[in-house]
Amino acid sequence: MNHAQEKLARNALLRRDGGLLRDFHAMRWDEPLIMEMGRPGERGVIPPQATDVAADVAPAEDLLPAALVRRSPPALPEVSQPQVLRHFTRLSQMTLGIDVTIDIGEGTCTMKYSPKVNEQLVRSHKVLELHPEQPEGSLQGILEICHRMAGMLCEISGMDDFSFQPGGGSAAAFGFAAMARKYFHERGEDRRDEVITTIFSHPCDSACPATAGYKIITLMPADDGYPDLEALRAALSERTAAIMITNPEDTGIFNPAIREYTQAAHDAGALCYCDQANLNGLLGVSRAREAGFDACHFNLHKTFGSPHGCKGPGAGALGVTAALAPYLPAPHIVAVADGSAEHGIRYHLDSRRPHAIGKLRAFLGNLAVVVRAYAWTMSLGARGLREVAEVSIINNSYLEAQLREIRGVSYPYAEGRRRWDQIRYSFEALKEDTGFGTEDMKARFCDFGVQTWFTSHRPWIVPEPFTPEPCETYSKEDLDYWAAALKRSVDDAYDRPELLASAPHNQACGRIRTWERFVEPGEWAVTWRAYRRKHGGGGRGDEPDERSPQAGLRESRWVVQSGHDDPD
Ligand SMILES: Cc1ncc(COP(=O)(O)O)c(C=O)c1O
Repeated sequence: MNHAQEKLARNALLRRDGGLLRDFHAMRWDEPLIMEMGRPGERGVIPPQATDVAADVAPAEDLLPAALVRRSPPALPEVSQPQVLRHFTRLSQMTLGIDVTIDIGEGTCTMKYSPKVNEQLVRSHKVLELHPEQPEGSLQGILEICHRMAGMLCEISGMDDFSFQPGGGSAAAFGFAAMARKYFHERGEDRRDEVITTIFSHPCDSACPATAGYKIITLMPADDGYPDLEALRAALSERTAAIMITNPEDTGIFNPAIREYTQAAHDAGALCYCDQANLNGLLGVSRAREAGFDACHFNLHKTFGSPHGCKGPGAGALGVTAALAPYLPAPHIVAVADGSAEHGIRYHLDSRRPHAIGKLRAFLGNLAVVVRAYAWTMSLGARGLREVAEVSIINNSYLEAQLREIRGVSYPYAEGRRRWDQIRYSFEALKEDTGFGTEDMKARFCDFGVQTWFTSHRPWIVPEPFTPEPCETYSKEDLDYWAAALKRSVDDAYDRPELLASAPHNQACGRIRTWERFVEPGEWAVTWRAYRRKHGGGGRGDEPDERSPQAGLRESRWVVQSGHDDPD
């Protein structure tokens, strides 16, 4: 055993045996669904009746068109305050929230620590109580923050203007595709109906232009694992509207020929869009404009310190060169010289934009995310931003040095070449040796109190993938812990397969069985009512039977286990 392997083996012991791993066990409450709780008539808050004005105003339902009035009240949960409090606290205890776990598994997602002090800022009434219809004159402070933030992002990217209207990265990518369509339409080039992307770009770089009406061409990498310049040249034509790519790609590979790439696209008359949702490895190091891009977006809710996950509110900051700026969504924030205004500048919401694509989102987007990002950027300063990238890359290399010592782990595509701030590894060899793949490994890994990983966007090109991204806010101890938990899980796959097959053992619930419910759009049910329609079940008050929603959930999604501890 070499030194690194020895260290890994030692760290992969439980703390009581001299290693790093915690003897973890999650809380388990067997909590009912809130729809099953409470009693008819039970209330958390009973507001006073407006008896003194009741006679003067019509009943609310008389004010609505008859066709919109419900025939029966909605089946809402009827629960007391303590029930609600206990219910959600218990649920929170059964999850591995970001404040208790080391969340570096969500590669491409840039899960990092979001400073709590920034939460205080956005919970100020000055942000919380903003009304979207407030007159411009009373919005000067928040407009100034947006304008300054846009200025800093121009500096970071080299672009000339930014909009914060998109509610996330995909919305920004869609916004760009819509802008490209309008841009070419106005130039009489409607024949440009194709967008080129690469297979290791984020899927929104194909899905969004497809939604905007483009035909998509997806390029596979060259034999060396890098984006294939010759394939791009062959795909470009007078029909190409744009290339939309992520760089570094989801595998962590940075395209070293990026200038030739964008030059080839420009030579064909196309626009170049860089998906920089995740800028962590490049902050203060390289700028999209100088790599030849005409537009880019940053996910403020990833790179710029705003919490995200579970589709929390985001902001896809969409940046463009001056040539594309007129197409940005309206209204757009502009600074106007005004002698009567404080500091001689007034911020104006410009809605008269004849070339604009319209609106991407109601009002001004998710402003709280912009405020957090502004606070985060200001607290780091220019030097600090570059340090984010430097530490992320060092962290990634440090973790890589450990993971490469673990049997069964490899990374295909450009084997041995430098990766940036994340790596898409593979458990292909482990699966061949033991029969256990990446989904099985997740189930064991979380037994050590760590959030599991994101595998890969689909289709899986890297077999049995997993994609850690150890951002700048994780310490050496965090990375050692993560590597130790992985090493231990892999050892169990080889040495104690029965433990793997029945994992997880220390979690609040068993393994999610019906993956197909997630990957098959026909199976999706995004509301409780849709779930009942698709998968059966009676309304509230029905006797639970084997078709009840609860029974359906329990049977199909969870195996609630009897809480066996790890034999260790
Ligand atoms: C590289 C990349 N591009 C785009 C997106 C899409 O961003 P959002 O989830 O905010 O729509 C993501 C996030 O998953 C991403 O990692």
